[in-house]
Amino acid sequence: MAKYLISEKALEYNARILRETGKASGARVLIALKAFATTAGLHCLRKYADGACASGLYEAKLAVEHVGGHIAVYAPAYTQNELDELLKIAHHIDFNSLPQWERFRECCLKHPRAVSGELEFGLRVNPGCSTGHTPLYDPCAPGSRLGVPLTDLSGANLAGISGLHMHTLCEQYSSDLTTTVQALEEQAAELLSSPHIHYLNLGGGHWITKPDYNREELVTLIRRLRERYAVDVFLEPGEAWCIHSGVLRAQVLDVFESMGYRHAILDVSVSAHMPDVLEMPYRPDVYCVTNDEDNIRTKKQPSVHVTGERYSLAGKAGELAFTYRLAAPTCLAGDVLGDYSFPRTLSVGDTIVLDDMAHYTIVKSTHFNGVVHPDIYVQATDGTLKCVRRFGYNDFVNRLG
Ligand SMILES: Cc1ncc(COP(=O)(O)O)c(C=O)c1O
Repeated sequence: MAKYLISEKALEYNARILRETGKASGARVLIALKAFATTAGLHCLRKYADGACASGLYEAKLAVEHVGGHIAVYAPAYTQNELDELLKIAHHIDFNSLPQWERFRECCLKHPRAVSGELEFGLRVNPGCSTGHTPLYDPCAPGSRLGVPLTDLSGANLAGISGLHMHTLCEQYSSDLTTTVQALEEQAAELLSSPHIHYLNLGGGHWITKPDYNREELVTLIRRLRERYAVDVFLEPGEAWCIHSGVLRAQVLDVFESMGYRHAILDVSVSAHMPDVLEMPYRPDVYCVTNDEDNIRTKKQPSVHVTGERYSLAGKAGELAFTYRLAAPTCLAGDVLGDYSFPRTLSVGDTIVLDDMAHYTIVKSTHFNGVVHPDIYVQATDGTLKCVRRFGYNDFVNRLG
């Protein structure tokens, strides 16, 4: 049976780095629940986090129940009903457009939690500075709906706004943040210096837990911003909490040759269980569980090991003796992971491990084609595995209405 397997040890490793970064810089570091919201994992992360960032009411409620601390909410648009609930539980509510803020300003500012200062309101801004490589993930692309272009702020009535929110990065390094902050300061230094602005949220997309991330540059930048503008700085990474902390374990259901290709059908769907592979797109590292020591070709190992197992890293097509097209058991022609090569032939029942599958997978999964949804397992720090969620037919049928 397919399963997502999340390692508590790996989550804690990332969480320690993020806590240290927060302490050194004075920034508050939130968990972006859009990336990862498995409650068993959140229980492990929450002692290191200053709170959570939510994309709307449901994530905000989850944050209250399973993370605690500071709850920051940003959504491209709110309904009155959602906002009424958010006003009761959030600490920051950030608006995406001036018309949304104008529409809700009065009801926001008169809320007792706003009057007492427990709740503040911010505006997402777009500094118009693209530094990423993937248009799908570029909120600064021409015509973007995400955030108010800084050029549109002059003359705007910002009464009641006490924070600025900016999310522009995706899997990026501190140098890209430096470039973006420079663009922000060039256009909005006066606004940032205003005594009405209390917080600056630098969004997510910071690859802080990557070994080659320059944390010193980030820390220096945040300290400077806090001092120069007298603002509280917030970071809300998602991926950085979970990177290299989870795998998706699949089984080979069938192996056959067709039109000159060797195909291996797995019991997972790329479209339903790891859609970013198609959307980004990217090619995950793949391992085959093997008993044959001679076939273990590199020291590279999957993010999560199961006691007693050995893993052989798959190569590019043609690199090792046997190349297979790894694909899903769905009707979608393009539901294909890619062409990977192995030192031996694959057989029905072989376990294939897809690496780095904790973030933007479980939160995005569907029951497309009625493919059995992978169960969710957590590996405790002593190596034991615990199933935290098992999916069955009822999960499939109940969500279809
Ligand atoms: C507003 C906002 N904050 C935070 C994040 C988390 O980003 P990441 O998981 O890349 O760190 C995202 C991701 O899309 C986002 O849109």
